[in-house]
Amino acid sequence: MLAPFPYFGGKRSIVDDVWCRLGSPKQYIEPFCGSAAMLLGAPKPAPLEVICDGSGFIANFWRATKYQPEAVAQWADYPVSHIDLGARHSWLMAQRERVGDALQDANWPGDAQVAGWWLWGQCCWIGSGWCDWFGQVPRAGNAGRGVQAIGQVPHASDAGMGVQAIGQVPHASDAGMGFDDLLTSSGRAAWVWLKKLSDRLERVRVVHGDWFRCLNHHYGGESTAVFLDPPYRSYESLYGKTGSIADAVAVWAKEHEHLRIALCGHCGDYELDGWDAVNWSRGKHTYSGKKTTESECVWYSPACLPVNTNQLELAQ
Ligand SMILES: C[S@@+](CC[C@H](N)C(=O)[O-])C[C@H]1O[C@@H](n2cnc3c(N)ncnc32)[C@H](O)[C@@H]1O
Repeated sequence: MLAPFPYFGGKRSIVDDVWCRLGSPKQYIEPFCGSAAMLLGAPKPAPLEVICDGSGFIANFWRATKYQPEAVAQWADYPVSHIDLGARHSWLMAQRERVGDALQDANWPGDAQVAGWWLWGQCCWIGSGWCDWFGQVPRAGNAGRGVQAIGQVPHASDAGMGVQAIGQVPHASDAGMGFDDLLTSSGRAAWVWLKKLSDRLERVRVVHGDWFRCLNHHYGGESTAVFLDPPYRSYESLYGKTGSIADAVAVWAKEHEHLRIALCGHCGDYELDGWDAVNWSRGKHTYSGKKTTESECVWYSPACLPVNTNQLELAQ
């Protein structure tokens, strides 16, 4: 299962490797969730799962998708339009304070219009920077795809969804015009996709705020897994901070190394004695068309499982 939008720094390509080391925990916490690639790639959902992001647009998207996938699909169902991209961007940015405040209520179901328009823009926009929550000036986008091209987004098809799923949409109509009649065929694909995500998120807590807000729990020792994917040190300025997030994350991670923690960064970002550092590289074109061969690394805490020993745990 995948997010229906491309995301800068997304960790989809290392999902299998990371879960191999995290095993099958009782609690799973993802404080910098972004596209939630790791949660969605879990081979087996943990009994307690928490995701968090400092961007209210991200947190609101997951909250609204969890509680009102149909409405999000409806708001996202719109062709690519540059004029509207600018207008909607302005409108979305003006919603930040209201949405940020509302998200503090753990039972607030999200704002479907904000989520749908944000999703639409995230799919239209080229590169990163659509609706930055952290106060940066967004970059102008060129021609993008739009949610109406959702079935053509490459990562849609290998999950068996996207365009192929259109034919499986049940006709919701019981009195003439049904919900799906209101949508374009691509909008129906988005609806199916979001509905599946909603089912997956049913028991997942979605938190908005600074990363440590979701770490304020009683941990179950080894049976807790934490996936830490903070902004990399060299990108922290995009989030209005320099050094502070990575430094604080490193301190927290070291203090909690009895938990199963996977921490992501560029090679050399962290010095963690006793941790297993595994290098990797995307080595391929990213969604924005750029080729990246930067060396990235995942640091695994001593409590993580040795490679290839998780099968036993997963089978239980
Ligand atoms: C590298 S991305 C995470 C990518 C994610 N693992 C994925 O697969 O899509 C870092 C994320 O941290 C979020 N973020 C930045 N500063 C934060 C903070 N202080 N607290 C929580 N999240 C923050 C950003 O909004 C962004 O979504």
